[in-house]
Amino acid sequence: MKRAARTAYVCQQCGHAAPRWLGQCPACESWGTLVEEAMPDARAASVAAPAPAQAPQALSAVTASETMRRSTGVGELDRVLGGGLVQGSIVLLGGDPGIGKSTLALQACGALAGQGLPVLYVAGEESPEQVRLRADRLGLGESGILIVPETTAETVVEHIDRVRPAAVVVDSIQTLRTTALASAPGSVGQVRESAALLVSRCKATSTACFLIGHVTKEGSLAGPRVLEHLVDTVLYFEGDGAHALRVLRAVKNRFGSTNEVGVFEMGERGLAEVANPSAAFLAERPEGAPGSAVLATLEGSRPVLVEIQALVSRSSLAMPRRTPIGLDLGRTALLLAILEKRCRVRLHDQDVFLNVAGGLRIDEPAADLAVIAAVASSARGKALPGDVVLWGEVGLTGEVRSVARADIRMREAARQGFKRCVLPAGNARGLDADPRTTIRGVGNVADLFEVLELA
Ligand code: TYD
Ligand code: MG
Repeated sequence: MKRAARTAYVCQQCGHAAPRWLGQCPACESWGTLVEEAMPDARAASVAAPAPAQAPQALSAVTASETMRRSTGVGELDRVLGGGLVQGSIVLLGGDPGIGKSTLALQACGALAGQGLPVLYVAGEESPEQVRLRADRLGLGESGILIVPETTAETVVEHIDRVRPAAVVVDSIQTLRTTALASAPGSVGQVRESAALLVSRCKATSTACFLIGHVTKEGSLAGPRVLEHLVDTVLYFEGDGAHALRVLRAVKNRFGSTNEVGVFEMGERGLAEVANPSAAFLAERPEGAPGSAVLATLEGSRPVLVEIQALVSRSSLAMPRRTPIGLDLGRTALLLAILEKRCRVRLHDQDVFLNVAGGLRIDEPAADLAVIAAVASSARGKALPGDVVLWGEVGLTGEVRSVARADIRMREAARQGFKRCVLPAGNARGLDADPRTTIRGVGNVADLFEVLELA
């Protein structure tokens, strides 16, 4: 492979190109924004020539054939992908180290190979022996997966051309390097150029591709994030190492809905699908303890019950702590202000900790009512009734606003055996109550306090 002639360090803020790396861009003066990039001639040598131009055609003349999907054998993964792995699609699988990315990819490979398809696993991080050990553990040691230890992007492309796999896994994108650039593997330039090379080849050969990427603890910018626009689907694996529960979330999907989640449990024999996420997330809920509230939240199209925990304790700091884990900090501050102002719950000299049990992250405002209930319960030292599920958005004047899909939230609560739902009054009107549960609409936070006997 010949060494590329020309690369430049290009500022990611303003586009200024410098011949060598600099800490600060001389043009716009931003720091740490210069990234090595292959210049057009070097890039042309490594990427296939563009296809001849196509004449425009009438949109009505385009025949839309169903995208060809294959089951990965992992139901929750199929679900997050939008109903299976689309042929020729590029999937970025991101997450913390040790969360289970390699395990998930190997399990998917095993199932695809089990269908008689050629599958290639490019091991950049681990030796084939290590992957074999993991495969044995997963019961896939004898499956027909092909494996190659490789870290040069150009060679990976050669392997793809030779093997013509239906799916290829690159574990991980940070270990790949292209000979077009001089910078070290894992740098933004290398990650981006190597991925671009693979993506164009996979697209040309209709090969489905999983790119595995580590999200750095510092905010996930240098790694997989720079690839998000390049790929069809971005999946992030979430969860904390202390829990066995893992959530796989689609944050971008050209072939399905985003914000769909899959729930897994890491066990002795790999990742198992969790059929009943609500039960899993509520498994260790303390009964009768102040500061615990059950929320019916929506994860994609699916209702899930989770426990919101709050701890309010006297602060010795001039500026008391507000520490929400799994919830938005700004939104939490707003809800605490509403509690203080509208409900006369004294919080200005109290530390407030919030946690979503099980390591889930919740971004929808429908969590407001449960957050308020949990904090008030802890502040008052009074447990909430154990059979109550809450959801609803809270506005600045303390009014409780309707949220989407009250019907499926209620049915999930009923299915899990909860006897009462406390929800926005606007949602309660016109909702056919499930016979297994009663519904109670609240118009504002004062109503909520009354219903929960926290006043
Ligand atoms: P891995 O897939 O290697 O994570 P990643 O590729 O995201 O870095 O999984 C690592 C963890 O999973 C490791 O701590 C061991 C654990 N694990 C199990 O608990 N059970 C299993 O069957 C396997 C394969 C791994
Ligand atoms: Mg790994």
